[in-house]
Amino acid sequence: MRDGRHSPVAASLDTRRLRAQLELKNRALASSAEGITIADAALPDNPLIYANAGFERLTGYAAAEVIGRNCRFLQGPGTDPEAVAVLRAAIQNRRAVTVTLLNYRKDGTPFWNRLSITPVRDAAGAVTHFIGVQSDVTEEKLAKDALQHANERLEAASQVMKRDMAAAAAVQRSLLPAEMPFVAGMRIAYRFEPCGDVGGDSLNVLPIDARHLGVYILDVSGHGVSAALLSVSLSHMLSVEPGRSFLYQACAGNPSQYCIAEPVQVVTRLNRHFAKATGVSQFFTMIYGLLDKETAEFRYVSAGHFGPVHFHCGAAQPIQEAGGIPVGLFPGVTYEQHSISLSKGDRLYFSTDGIPEAENPAGEQFSLDRVLEILTRKRDLRLEETLSSLMQCVGEWTAPGSPSDDASLLAIERSA
Ligand SMILES: Cc1cc2nc3c(=O)[nH]c(=O)nc-3n(C[C@H](O)[C@H](O)[C@H](O)COP(=O)(O)O)c2cc1C
Repeated sequence: MRDGRHSPVAASLDTRRLRAQLELKNRALASSAEGITIADAALPDNPLIYANAGFERLTGYAAAEVIGRNCRFLQGPGTDPEAVAVLRAAIQNRRAVTVTLLNYRKDGTPFWNRLSITPVRDAAGAVTHFIGVQSDVTEEKLAKDALQHANERLEAASQVMKRDMAAAAAVQRSLLPAEMPFVAGMRIAYRFEPCGDVGGDSLNVLPIDARHLGVYILDVSGHGVSAALLSVSLSHMLSVEPGRSFLYQACAGNPSQYCIAEPVQVVTRLNRHFAKATGVSQFFTMIYGLLDKETAEFRYVSAGHFGPVHFHCGAAQPIQEAGGIPVGLFPGVTYEQHSISLSKGDRLYFSTDGIPEAENPAGEQFSLDRVLEILTRKRDLRLEETLSSLMQCVGEWTAPGSPSDDASLLAIERSA
């Protein structure tokens, strides 16, 4: 039987089918939204032999104007020479390449061209043509550049902020007691761990006069810069400079002299000062007390603050009577002063709520029970070591590197 494909009828059918396929390809190239160009690799300087309608729309040049020319005519003063060098090297080495570079339309307007060039090889593997695909990516490029600039500005601002925060943290640390005052028969220690660079916790032990130590621990609502600013200004208001400190007041009999203010007077005055500052949404909890070095009596006021915890007769117990309203919430609050006598071997622990309320990754709080259990179990350690030990347990409880609140501890021990 004769092979039907070799008949004249079959040959004419094949030719028609081939022509139809070619026309389809031509229509596809012509209707592409992208620019499509073909350059002849066999001719010197790779001149264009084809440019589709997409290229005409994109560049404003008619195909007839560009055929026979190398496509570098789209480049201009703003075109990056490095991008052109990448193109040149790829074409010389017969490699495919994609580059985004600035090109210019016939009317001179610039546009960002994402250009892909692919070599076309014959059956023997020799490169006969290059196909170029041009896409206008101006909007995308400008948006990307704007984003990059915004990110750079943000990064620069964040660096400045980090430097400022580190400086603020240094100021805050410089306000902590460098060393604890020496008191015969007593031991005093503290630990301070802000959750960020700066925190809202503050504490101090101050030699108010020859007989008394002023002891405070406070926790400003929130944390970060605004909390730290308030805690820094509070440390000035609670200093040993009688003229400007809330810890002293004019003596009853001699108003030109300063006398020690009782804790209830200090806290009441602070509350009067902060609760009247309308529009300020910050408040703080605190314990302020006077330790009488001769009698080992501690007179104190708690303004909504956690504790203190009293270690007495081998066990740590919270002092339930403490409590009160945080400073700065309501004007006219009446505070109650309490007193506790330290027996030999007793310890008084003060902490901010960052200790009992520290959360583990499951959201569970460290809890007062754990605090009491550790303080009781570690009773035979030196005071400083007991505090470090508690701090370490809290650190292990919270997710590594991410405590959610500042944590501070202060403790007084009457030697056994
Ligand atoms: C098919 C093809 C299309 C090209 N299309 C562009 C184009 O749209 N824009 C452009 O800047 N360069 C284009 N080029 C690159 C330039 O023609 C030229 O190769 C490049 O500028 C590097 O060579 P030169 O250093 O000799 O100028 C194309 C090249 C080929 C082969």
